[in-house]
Amino acid sequence: MFWKSASSCLVYTARVVVARNMHVAVIGAGVIGLSTALCIHDQYQHSVHPLKIEVYADKFTPLTTSDGAAGLWQPYLYDNGNKQETRWNKETFDYLLKFVHSAEAQNMGIFLQSGYNLLKEPAPEPSWKDDVLGFRHLTQRELELFPGYSYGWFNTALMIEGKSYLPWLTKKLEERGVKFIHKTVKSFDELAKLGADVIINCTGIRSGQLQPDPELKPGRGQILKVVAPWMKHFILTHDLKTGVYTTPYIIPGSQMVTLGGIYQLGNWNEEEVSSDHEWIWEECCKLVPSLKNAKIVHDWAGLRPARSKVRLEREPFVSGSSKCNIIHNYGHGGYGLTIHWGCAMEAAKIFGQIVGERRKGIPKSSL
Ligand code: FAD
Ligand code: BEZ
Repeated sequence: MFWKSASSCLVYTARVVVARNMHVAVIGAGVIGLSTALCIHDQYQHSVHPLKIEVYADKFTPLTTSDGAAGLWQPYLYDNGNKQETRWNKETFDYLLKFVHSAEAQNMGIFLQSGYNLLKEPAPEPSWKDDVLGFRHLTQRELELFPGYSYGWFNTALMIEGKSYLPWLTKKLEERGVKFIHKTVKSFDELAKLGADVIINCTGIRSGQLQPDPELKPGRGQILKVVAPWMKHFILTHDLKTGVYTTPYIIPGSQMVTLGGIYQLGNWNEEEVSSDHEWIWEECCKLVPSLKNAKIVHDWAGLRPARSKVRLEREPFVSGSSKCNIIHNYGHGGYGLTIHWGCAMEAAKIFGQIVGERRKGIPKSSL
């Protein structure tokens, strides 16, 4: 038996009840938008028919913030009680770890990477110490390699290089029939009027343009890419005493080494600044003097979508006769690649609740 009822908007088959078509409009093609689209498709392609997913963005890989990021899996040292984010970070690590030695790993841009976190004084162990591999305190001999630092940890984490991972996600979505639309979305209303049942807001630092959010601020960063194939470990420094976030780091990638450490809260400048370039170069060369022999090949500045916590929640949206649901997924600060899959699964769970309500026939307007 197979019949379709226009009034109930449900498609019945002999064995399963499949929800009627859903039109999902994802805004944003950074790591958050693409992974959320993929996760929803993976989980609901068989239970929603047809599931139409579109990704709207005005910047695609390789031009997003997610492409410019260094790509190290590492959350901020302390979660300040935000256990949900700690869980999403861990879920992302565990998900990526399953792929790390697979034939897909190279296309995905993921690989294991070990390294140091250095501090000037003793500090509590980080919230993520049990998520990474082989977390341990530094020995005296290791600390002697880094004059000025007297405390720290070593562990193995993962690299997720946006310049490979975003094309990999894009290809997966294209294979599943997801459409990509190059445009600037001016309002949620625009997509609701086009018939979107669910809008997924993954617009990163520009979310405030669609709906004011005084909590969202740019955490401006700048990095240098250098050729230094002898650098094999990441080195991140921290200054917990002054609370200054701008501290030097060195992160070897598959082709080049990222030097950085600029973090300027509230600065919207997306241009590279020469004084920041000088600061990065000098501080990283102080940390590892052999870098003076490295060739600088690239400068890049980008804005971290800084927020006290990720905004990942559902909001009903009504505008005139258009009614739909928005799932917000933005504000991932300096840890978007680190947390993306956990957030994508949470967004998919919220999406599942909306699907469930529609199956029960709860009208769109009251959702
Ligand atoms: P984005 O990548 O910025 O994507 C936003 C998307 O939304 C884009 O496609 C854009 O075109 C689109 N968009 C926005 N508004 C609209 C609109 N109105 N209409 C249409 N499209 C729109 N994180 C880590 O985990 N590890 C790291 O090592 C790391 N290093 C970093 C280094 C630096 C210097 C910086 C700046 C950030 C770093 N990050 C790192 C943080 C990471 O880059 C961000 O958390 C992540 O990129 C956020 O992803 P996103 O998808 O939300 O945003
Ligand atoms: C950053 O610059 O935001 C960053 C650097 C290393 C790991 C994670 C984030």
